[in-house]
Amino acid sequence: MDAFEIHGGSPLCGETQVYGAKNAALPILAATVMVEEPCVIDNVPDLEDVRVMMKILQTLGASVRRDGTSVVVDAGNLRSTNVPADLMRRMRSSIFLMGPLLARFGDVRVSKPGGCVIGQRPVDFHLRGMRALGASIEEKHGFIRCSSNRLFGTEIVLDFPSVGATENLIMAAALADGQTVIQNAAREPEIVDLANFLNACGANIEGVGEDTVRVQGVHHLHGTRHRIIPDRIVAGTMLLTVAATRGKVTLTKAEPAHLGALLAKLKQAGVRVHTDRDIITIECLKPLRAVDMRTAPYPGFPTDLQAPFMAAFTTAEGTSVIRESVFEARFKHVNELTRMGADITVDLQTAVVRGVSQLSGATVEATDLRGGAALVIAGLMADGVTRVEGLQHIDRGYQQLDVYLRDLGAVITRTGAMS
Ligand code: EPZ
Repeated sequence: MDAFEIHGGSPLCGETQVYGAKNAALPILAATVMVEEPCVIDNVPDLEDVRVMMKILQTLGASVRRDGTSVVVDAGNLRSTNVPADLMRRMRSSIFLMGPLLARFGDVRVSKPGGCVIGQRPVDFHLRGMRALGASIEEKHGFIRCSSNRLFGTEIVLDFPSVGATENLIMAAALADGQTVIQNAAREPEIVDLANFLNACGANIEGVGEDTVRVQGVHHLHGTRHRIIPDRIVAGTMLLTVAATRGKVTLTKAEPAHLGALLAKLKQAGVRVHTDRDIITIECLKPLRAVDMRTAPYPGFPTDLQAPFMAAFTTAEGTSVIRESVFEARFKHVNELTRMGADITVDLQTAVVRGVSQLSGATVEATDLRGGAALVIAGLMADGVTRVEGLQHIDRGYQQLDVYLRDLGAVITRTGAMS
């Protein structure tokens, strides 16, 4: 089993470039099934989840090929609307294919995505919205079947600003008859990027990035070329790693405007932050000051940075209170951090992190993507050697994480099965 072997204590220093956002690339690649002409998507990260999405598109009959950091998709001759169950199980984001396949073909079958370690992750908001657009939904034997001769524009109010539901419903509404209004919509930058792609293909979507989105259905979408935005979660993870190791790093090809909540917390903690166009430079010369944090839908503090944030603040001066308000079970990394000497107590959705002077290296197991990144950060901070197992989780969302960290001075190697 692959693992990272980390020798802690080296501050991260230098410069690194931020690559394309996984959570923008996945819905945009799914949206290409709505387009009957070739699309070129640039700045697509080379991650396991992206490779699975490309495989799903190929299985549906699209031609898909990677050309460096670009992916060329031609869904003109799509022949199936059944998303393969085995691939669906490998990546729950394949639920993003529901809206596009329903919009173009009036028929789609996906396997019901299971929960995962961070929570139940139901898809009721997605299904309620599809019904409101006129689809009939059948759920049985672990599959969801959506079908409709035509989709009709309607009013939808989301119970919670769900990222995936907002994206799926925008895609379904893009080819519906008439106007759809989605209220209490999620505002994440990845949704804006999806809308920009669809509008470049001839869709008519307004208000994305605000809480009310208007989609005027059109009859046809044409091919386009689109560049994916930088990955704000990868950038945020890197910034927290620099702060945790008391280093100084410049991120290029970043988007500071997408990281407002994190940059504010880092400044509050005493980190020196400088931004200029697509560059973020931070320097951390002394222990962090403890700060409280609560995750929230964008533009609040991103839930995907909660675990990396917690790891960085395990050795802060003082006590940080962290509230996870988006997912109901996103503290799976706490046990492993406490095994490394962190002092964290959890009560339901709140974790109290009392700063300790030093973590100590240990063998730990990643159980989800961002929790795994938190364990890598802890290993880079710790005294001694840390072995992080469960890299299949980390590889889903971080491209060659060990290579990027080594280039900044980290002592980290990827090893095979434990000798
Ligand atoms: C997206 O997941 C991201 N994934 C997640 O990133 C991210 O954590 C999440 O948004 C929140 O920002 C992708 O974009 C591929 P939600 P999504 O629907 O769309 C509940 C990562 O690490 N809910 O906004 O699944 C849900 O259970 C991943 O890159 C319903 O109850 O998140 C959760 O508590 C992890 N019913 C809350 O809403 C629904 O129908 C937010 O979920 C849908 C969601």
